[in-house]
Amino acid sequence: MHLESIAQLRSDLLNARFSVDTLTGLWGERADAALHRGQRVPAVRALAGPAAETPAGVLARLFVLGMPVSAEQLAAALPALGIDGAIQLGLVSLDRDGLRAALDLRPYSFVDAHGVGSWWIASDLGELTVGGALREDHVLGVGGASLTLSGLMVGTPVDSALDLGTGCGIQALHAARHATRVVATDISPRALEIAALNAELNGIRNIEFRLGSLFEPVVGERFGHIVSNPPFVITPRAEGVPSYEYRDGGMVGDALVASVIAGLAEHLEPGGIAQLLGNWEYRDGANGANGANGLDRVRDWVASTGLDAWVVEREVQDAALYSETWIRDGGTRPGPEFDRLYGAWLDDFEQRGVTSVGFGYLTLRASSQGLRRLERLDGALNGTAGGGLGVHIAETLAASDWQSARTDEELGRERLELAPDVTEERHYWPGAADPTVMTLRQGGGFGRSVRLSTGLAALVGACDGELSVRAIIAAIAQLLEVDTAALSTDLLPSIRELVTTGFLRPLS
Ligand SMILES: C[S@@+](CC[C@H](N)C(=O)[O-])C[C@H]1O[C@@H](n2cnc3c(N)ncnc32)[C@H](O)[C@@H]1O
Repeated sequence: MHLESIAQLRSDLLNARFSVDTLTGLWGERADAALHRGQRVPAVRALAGPAAETPAGVLARLFVLGMPVSAEQLAAALPALGIDGAIQLGLVSLDRDGLRAALDLRPYSFVDAHGVGSWWIASDLGELTVGGALREDHVLGVGGASLTLSGLMVGTPVDSALDLGTGCGIQALHAARHATRVVATDISPRALEIAALNAELNGIRNIEFRLGSLFEPVVGERFGHIVSNPPFVITPRAEGVPSYEYRDGGMVGDALVASVIAGLAEHLEPGGIAQLLGNWEYRDGANGANGANGLDRVRDWVASTGLDAWVVEREVQDAALYSETWIRDGGTRPGPEFDRLYGAWLDDFEQRGVTSVGFGYLTLRASSQGLRRLERLDGALNGTAGGGLGVHIAETLAASDWQSARTDEELGRERLELAPDVTEERHYWPGAADPTVMTLRQGGGFGRSVRLSTGLAALVGACDGELSVRAIIAAIAQLLEVDTAALSTDLLPSIRELVTTGFLRPLS
């Protein structure tokens, strides 16, 4: 690696203030939003006048918008690295219009459990710049799925972490914030080169990059944290259908995700956590509306590992819509080629009776707590304050352990309080004294809502940390004139669920 050149690039990017805030300042939030939708015209139009000639403006035009710049402009924007250095690093190439980006390079900022941060991330040029279908060995930049996984990441300090299928290295960089050392793997040598460039550019030196498929590069090793945004996209294994390394693991249907799950148990340390994203197929007419089939397949996959598992299904897409989404993602536009690929996708799905495809987050853990939650949570995510969903996931695992370690008798002796993000909604028939529906809502986390019975509503309302659960239930039983033991049997499973999901918090 050209360490000196990378250091020069770093210093140039710093001096140019090539940051997310600078770029938003250059073209405005609307153009920013359009760029996130894959449209650059608003940014190109907004970036005019003297701002376009500043070092940040020149770098933005070149690396983010894919426009050519002149040798003088680039030399002024990268004074330490220089044009030769940029060519040597593989960042730019010369063509008849001037200098063009050979890689995408953009600032990236984030908030996680450890606070705010910002990096620069290089990746292959996107579809915007390439202007057509992508190369099969395309190295993906930071996309929606990348942000989803990095936002989910539990930031508990560990000795070692594994990022399987590192791509541009984004998950490994995040893991390097809480792991003493990180191993980042990929089947793509090009991805590993770019990921190593990104680590060095951002001064992160505790990542080791290894080439190989799935767990091959880490045979016999265990990790405290495994993260993977694996190439889970279901792709027909048919002649003439491109197999993009960045999203397709080369297996039939959803077998790649099943294989990653199958390999986790022998690579997690005791207590270690694995977090991945995945797709799963719904077959033979079970469309997922009742949660059947697709999640049941995932249940079988995780059951055979013996690991604790919490699977959140976020979305179920109809097979046709899924096909369109991923054909477009590869850069193929509507036309005869699009139709040919569409047919291949539908043939492939029909062969296995696939009607729809589920997408979600998987958290697995090497422990004997017996956690096994598979659920559909497809509401809006508001709970990204205070370090993202990763903090919520860590809290949920801890709360689940806390309540499952207690017998009903022990839980009764505990004092609980309501989490600060919880509100209650009551609906009344006009003029009625009693509500017809009571719902508890969570502001953070997965934004859950829970229907309340009269007894549970009374209990939740009384959970201010003063009285034990047992004392509250006894008082409610008296008030409602019901048997205390029967009310207790009725309420305790709901109390356990409210503790696990973060509505109620133990004081102990
Ligand atoms: C969806 S990308 C994820 C990239 C990055 N980790 C992120 O979150 O943006 C999947 C990555 O897995 C890699 N990959 C594909 N097949 C693989 C395999 N069999 N073993 C390991 N990595 C693989 C691809 O090259 C690609 O970089």
